[in-house]
Amino acid sequence: MNIQSPSRYDSLSQAFHWLTVIAVSIAFILGPEHFGQLARRGIDPASRSDIVWHESLGLLVLVLTLLRLLWLAFRPAAPLIPMSSRMRLMGRLMHVALWTLLLALPVTAFLALGSEGHSLTLLGGVRVDQFPMIANSAIAKWFDWGDVHQFLGDAIMWLAGLHAAAAIYHHLVLKDGVLSTMLPGKGIR
Ligand code: HEM
Ligand code: HEM
Repeated sequence: MNIQSPSRYDSLSQAFHWLTVIAVSIAFILGPEHFGQLARRGIDPASRSDIVWHESLGLLVLVLTLLRLLWLAFRPAAPLIPMSSRMRLMGRLMHVALWTLLLALPVTAFLALGSEGHSLTLLGGVRVDQFPMIANSAIAKWFDWGDVHQFLGDAIMWLAGLHAAAAIYHHLVLKDGVLSTMLPGKGIR
């Protein structure tokens, strides 16, 4: 039986992917250094555009990730490029790691803000000064959540770098069409 597989991800999956790449990359570049020190010096995070943009883009990533996970349940079949089962497993494990980090980053950010008593400050003047549920919970004391968040922020960039390098290797060396699956175009394999 000849089962046809699409040669590309559907356009919505592609749009989610590339918007997430842009938002994560800018959020990483704007990652607020010495956030605790600024707070101790009494500097209002709302007065720092890097912090406001970082937190707004980070929340955009969370919204995109939740919508994207919902879309996974309804979207057309994903492309199936012929490759060894080991390579396919590596690709799947990388996706799981990236999905996990996309969710863990905002969660640890909220734990950091809540446990350290900092305000969430977003574009448009939106701010939330307290997170009593987090501040009063035992989880708040488990770790320095700011450090965990920073570690995960670095980790996603390293993994995304490896994932991008793998996609380019598939394109230039294996020439198997993996990179094109995330690029616009038409066609059935
Ligand atoms: C794509 C998602 C995100 C990435 C890649 C990311 C990355 C980072 C990185 C790398 C740092 C450390 C910067 C440094 O010290 O050089 C950082 C710090 C921080 N981020 Fe994020 N972040 C993301 C989402 C968020 C969100 C959603 C929020 C707020 C709701 C947030 C709030 C913060 C805060 C408050 C700090 C300072 C933490 C501290 O030192 O206590 N981030 N982020
Ligand atoms: C922050 C950066 C990135 C993140 C978080 C990320 C995350 C992901 C995720 C979760 C998937 C699975 C998509 C789905 O099932 O809908 C995926 C697929 C894909 N990504 Fe990325 N990605 C990033 C950067 C890149 C870059 C820079 C490239 C290209 C150079 C790239 C190329 C691809 C390709 C070709 C696929 C489909 C093939 C496959 O891996 O199965 N990604 N990415």
